[in-house]
Amino acid sequence: MESIAVAAMAAPCQKPRFRAPSPAGALGVGSALGRNIDAMNTSPPKRVEHQQTDKGYVPVYTTDVVEQPWASYSATDHEVWATLFKRQREILRGRASDAFLVAQDAMGMSPDAIPKFDDLNAALGAATGWEIIGVEGLLPELTFFDHLANRRFPVTWWIRKPEQLDYLAEPDLFHDLFGHVPLLMNPVFADYMQCYGRGGVKAHGIGPEALVNLTRLYWYTVEFGLIRQSDGLRIYGSGIVSSKGESIHCLESDAPNRIGFDLERIMRTRYRIDTYQKTYFVIDSFEQLMQATAPDFTPIYARLASQDSIPAGDVLATDAVFHRGSGEGWLNDGDV
Ligand SMILES: [Fe+2]
Repeated sequence: MESIAVAAMAAPCQKPRFRAPSPAGALGVGSALGRNIDAMNTSPPKRVEHQQTDKGYVPVYTTDVVEQPWASYSATDHEVWATLFKRQREILRGRASDAFLVAQDAMGMSPDAIPKFDDLNAALGAATGWEIIGVEGLLPELTFFDHLANRRFPVTWWIRKPEQLDYLAEPDLFHDLFGHVPLLMNPVFADYMQCYGRGGVKAHGIGPEALVNLTRLYWYTVEFGLIRQSDGLRIYGSGIVSSKGESIHCLESDAPNRIGFDLERIMRTRYRIDTYQKTYFVIDSFEQLMQATAPDFTPIYARLASQDSIPAGDVLATDAVFHRGSGEGWLNDGDV
């Protein structure tokens, strides 16, 4: 499970504009890219351990785009990828959304080796015009939003260690690549992500409360969303599909609530970064997400500013309840 500073996003977008696949190297960040390639000739990319930010003292990284140092991955790195890939695909059969599984296969991800970003970008660019770019780790919000708004998805280049298979406090390559990238092959979800980026840039200019609202929407859809298929509830959230335990918990445990998607309700709802979610929100389709985020969020932010936040485990009388959680194992405090 990842935590902290998962960049907020989400928001209004009237008409998503398809951007044609970029020619190789034309990322709009040419100077930064070149600088890092040069630096890598003598040393691998380095993480910036911690910085003081508007979210406190958190692990934020250099904003440079880095070329994936594929040749530097060790045999152990590839083994970690293979182990996690095979384990998750086994668990996700019948649990992940059809859209996710189809997309992951279509873009050519396999357990054989850590994928090369260039190979994935060929499939991704042809499908939706998105591309993945290598980064050192979590990015400042505005940088993250700008990438999304321009159909660039930042992927952490390094992968966790063998002793971290089941828990990592921040996103790594497996979470970002296995969890987030496949659905960028889906045209509707791809547009939704771009809308998030545009809305994030806008919300950043409005203020911190707007960003809190957006972060919750991102959290409960992109990271921890469920979708209703004709054959039952399925997972599409990246934070779930990249987690062995939560992939099972979110669908089969009695503990959490499973509630129908409601934009403003979600934007008021606090969440967990240290445990499984107390509540999962269920969409009917990716089109529903697009439609819900089409309006201008500015009046919504203004309206929500006068309303209290909702504890992560609460069920409201107005909720469309698929399952009311038993609450077993819940901690009483710690919602963020
Ligand atoms: Fe994530």
